[in-house]
Amino acid sequence: MKVLVLGSGGREHALVWKLSQSSRVSKVYCSPGNAGISQDAECLNVESTSPQSVAELAASLEIDLTIVGPEQPLVAGVVDAFTRRRLRIVGPSKAAATLEGSKVFAKEFMSRHHIPTAAFTVCESPEAAYDIISSGVYSYPVVLKVDGLAAGKGVVIASDIDEAKKTISEFMVEKRFGEAGTKVVIEECLKGREASLLIFSDGKQIIAMPPAQDYKNALDGNQGPNTGGMGSFSTPGLLERNLKEKIMHEIAEPTISGMAADGTVFRGVLFIGLMLTENGPRVLEYNVRFGDPETQVILSRLDTDIVDIFEAIAENDLGSLKVSWSEASAVCVVLASAGYPTTIRTGDIISGIPEAEALANVKVFHAGTKLDSAGNLITAGGRVLNVVARQMTLDAAREQAYRAVEKIKFEGMQYRRDIALR
Ligand code: GLY
Repeated sequence: MKVLVLGSGGREHALVWKLSQSSRVSKVYCSPGNAGISQDAECLNVESTSPQSVAELAASLEIDLTIVGPEQPLVAGVVDAFTRRRLRIVGPSKAAATLEGSKVFAKEFMSRHHIPTAAFTVCESPEAAYDIISSGVYSYPVVLKVDGLAAGKGVVIASDIDEAKKTISEFMVEKRFGEAGTKVVIEECLKGREASLLIFSDGKQIIAMPPAQDYKNALDGNQGPNTGGMGSFSTPGLLERNLKEKIMHEIAEPTISGMAADGTVFRGVLFIGLMLTENGPRVLEYNVRFGDPETQVILSRLDTDIVDIFEAIAENDLGSLKVSWSEASAVCVVLASAGYPTTIRTGDIISGIPEAEALANVKVFHAGTKLDSAGNLITAGGRVLNVVARQMTLDAAREQAYRAVEKIKFEGMQYRRDIALR
């Protein structure tokens, strides 16, 4: 079987790596991919936000199954374009991807289906938003979100009214995120521990993946600016069994059945971002795709052939599948460029990856890398590499991951030292 992965980061490298382990896969393609992915797959360069171009590519290469990494092609309707041509693809339709593409849609959906989430108000003009933030309806800090996609930067926790006013002005008047800020959601700031649960769904049946935790801040001790994720880990028992069952019962199942009842069947991978409050779990956000860098550790623990899972989703047959996960733990440390996440320096030569991968059960996934004209591997983005180690205990996985990190060098390399250190 020929498979195609859409995307270019560490998450997509992990998908390519896992797919290439399947005895059922004869060839893996990735578009656009990166320098590391090109060692495990044939990379192509097609504009992945143009659904028709991607469907054309898959048809011309006679691809049997396509997997979508990032949200943009899903929100742009890549699944609909494939379905029209009877090409198999794993992911939600454009209508179902609105769960991530519109925060207003997601909040109103949760409200309609009694799915626990923070209290909120939708504002369609800056004047309405200024009124709400001054009205005392919400205490500070308050959460402000642009409605549309904003590459993870469209959420601000404003600590006082001045910051809230400035943020509303940036979102709705200066239009920092363009049309994504035409509407904003103002919501109560929940307190508790953050967690996320990823599920596979065929539109009706659900299979939960083992929970993983990511680290969003740039610096140790959860200090510094927000990033795309500086590391992650997954270990048995990360969420207590009762809590996981509660999340499945009160959140995951009503989400999937609610989407079906509304005529927007959700088929694919759903990432449920949660706050575990003293009153129970509450949904912070939905993402309609695998998390990055959660996927790198979750797939490291997957024992079942991933193609069986993707096929079962595409064929509405997840209920008949038994998915098994390893009892081992996995830790991922992200190596980032100098200046990340603000001003990113690129073009530095990377060394030491073969030495890192020579260590037992270590895999280095590439995120922002490319080959220069002389054939050197160089940095080409903010998050450069994801060093993943899998071992029987969390401590051993952590130690092995950092042992591998020490082998890798590039100018200005930065990383957190406290990943999986609880
Ligand atoms: N790790 C969070 C995300 O993928 O959006």
